[in-house]
Amino acid sequence: MNEEQITRIRRSWALVASDRQTFARVFYAELFRLAPETRALFKPGMEQQIDKLSLTLAFIVDHLDQPDPLNAEVRKLGALHRDLHVTPAQYGPAGQALLAAFGEILGPVFSAQDARAWAAAYELLAREMQHEPPPGGATGG
Ligand code: HEM
Repeated sequence: MNEEQITRIRRSWALVASDRQTFARVFYAELFRLAPETRALFKPGMEQQIDKLSLTLAFIVDHLDQPDPLNAEVRKLGALHRDLHVTPAQYGPAGQALLAAFGEILGPVFSAQDARAWAAAYELLAREMQHEPPPGGATGG
């Protein structure tokens, strides 16, 4: 992530963060529209998940320039998603849903360059989440 991308990400996140639950709600509505089969992976009630996702996004945006805490958190998330049997193919629609949620909430204020910055961040994030640790590998302890 270069500085300009981080600035774009932080600026657009700041515009939705005052109502981050709404952002997460729109995100899941988009995800379930784009990939309806993913709905069954989640518990019926989404409120807790909406809270967790929005808090995690806030953490990620805050730590984009701090690779150590960011990667530690993202690897934990990745392991959790492997346990949940989230497949690599499901990361695509989640990325699209993220951009669609910004577009829906911010309209033209969310520029094509903002979208590219988020797409780049999501790609890094998704790749790191799917990175399998070596068998019996280091736990960092
Ligand atoms: C960068 C991408 C993603 C982020 C930041 C993210 C974030 C999260 C967070 C924070 C949680 C809650 C973890 C906890 O309980 O401690 C979660 C759970 C979950 N995520 Fe993701 N996720 C991502 C991608 C995906 C994708 C692609 C799918 C598949 C459609 C997915 C499906 C799930 C499911 C099924 C749960 C458990 C929900 C439940 O307990 O009902 N996630 N995710």
